Amino acid sequence: MKTQLAETKPTAIADLYQQVRARTLEIVAPLEIEDYVIQTAEFMSPPRWHIGHTSWFFETVLQKYQPGYRIYSEEFLFYFNSYYEGFGARIERPKRGTRSRPTVKATVAYRRHVDEQMTRFLESVSDRDDAEAILWIVRLGLEHEMQHQELLVYDIKHLLCDQFDAPIATAPRSIEAVSGMAEVEGGLFELGYPSGMGVPPMNHAQDAHATSYDFAFDNEKPQHTVFLQDFLIDRSLITNGDYLEFMNADGYQDFRWWHSAGWEKVNQERWQAPLYWEQKNGEWMIRDFAGLHQVTGKLNEPVSHVSFLEASAYAKWAGKRLPTEAEWEKAASFSPASNSKRKFPWGPDEPDESRGNLFENSLWSVAPVGAFPKGQSAYGCQQMIGDVWEWTTSDYVPYPGFKSEFDEYNDKWFVGQKVLRGGSFATPRAHIRTTYRNFFHPEERWMVAGFRCAK
Ligand SMILES: [Fe+2]
Repeated sequence: MKTQLAETKPTAIADLYQQVRARTLEIVAPLEIEDYVIQTAEFMSPPRWHIGHTSWFFETVLQKYQPGYRIYSEEFLFYFNSYYEGFGARIERPKRGTRSRPTVKATVAYRRHVDEQMTRFLESVSDRDDAEAILWIVRLGLEHEMQHQELLVYDIKHLLCDQFDAPIATAPRSIEAVSGMAEVEGGLFELGYPSGMGVPPMNHAQDAHATSYDFAFDNEKPQHTVFLQDFLIDRSLITNGDYLEFMNADGYQDFRWWHSAGWEKVNQERWQAPLYWEQKNGEWMIRDFAGLHQVTGKLNEPVSHVSFLEASAYAKWAGKRLPTEAEWEKAASFSPASNSKRKFPWGPDEPDESRGNLFENSLWSVAPVGAFPKGQSAYGCQQMIGDVWEWTTSDYVPYPGFKSEFDEYNDKWFVGQKVLRGGSFATPRAHIRTTYRNFFHPEERWMVAGFRCAK
């Protein structure tokens, strides 16, 4: 059964362009002008930078494909480039908040200029021989912008947290208790994005108003066979209550549970709890977009803002381990009954409010365990899509046979990072699927990351 949202979802690149670009401005709308330029940590970026940088991406498309396009501003090219060597010099990331220029007003004007140019450009694309290649890069630009929308949520949380006036919807209740581990049979498994899961990308769209083709990043391909042992995987995400037990058992004080790099971090950074946890009169509290809450009122919610190092320590303490990405993907996508893989845990239909907590749910927070039984996988695992990105033990490396489809996009990050799966409450619905591979460094925890265990 299709939902109303799925039916109204834009199906053409030009429509998707309008929708995605508007969404970015909706996210930042509650900010005051002063909020746009502050950088609170090396890893975050000022909101003004995100709205300029996502426009810069499309300006590089115009530079390459629009004959006679004139660069808007050399200064903007320098400030809004992120890490692309191919596009020349750029400001260092930790210094993005050290400048008051370009101003917010100038950045919004730049954004408007790029939108006007892009709208006109997309109208003319269909007449060109290279239309498919252009629409593919525009689609990448929109997926890139959706990634930045999620980063904006993380960065605004770091900047303002409960001082930000987020349009928060009423949280859903837990509908059923979720406990235990699902048994998943081993054997051969096809890991990665299958060409049959959607319409193959390169032989479909003729123009910007043609029906949308399905999208996957190059790092999810090619699909290939892996062998899995039989395994068990938690039906539910690890909760604040579970994690508090680890803390109360002196988990942060006991070297036995930690990787060497983890124990070093615990001592260097004096970690005692996940990020955004603070102690008040001896009691643990969690600060989020809605305020400061007692952890005891959030025991049944997934733990979030933990690093890979903390997730691993918890798993070892619990006598378990983190899943590999192949185990996670099988538990999330495979249906033994039909002997096939599905784009989402529940099947091929796009996510909606009843199946998972993604950005459009407007919770700006995790939802309690058991709130989305309709979204469970064939093995009975819940909340695999949405709520929190889930750490896996897998290193972020190319799949065998990997072919880079985008310069300097995914392939330059294939060292020293871990794979996370499933999306979070800040991930747009149109941006997620079970084969999606996110990646962060093992010690990072400012993003919305949690985990479930395997055995
Ligand atoms: Fe970017």
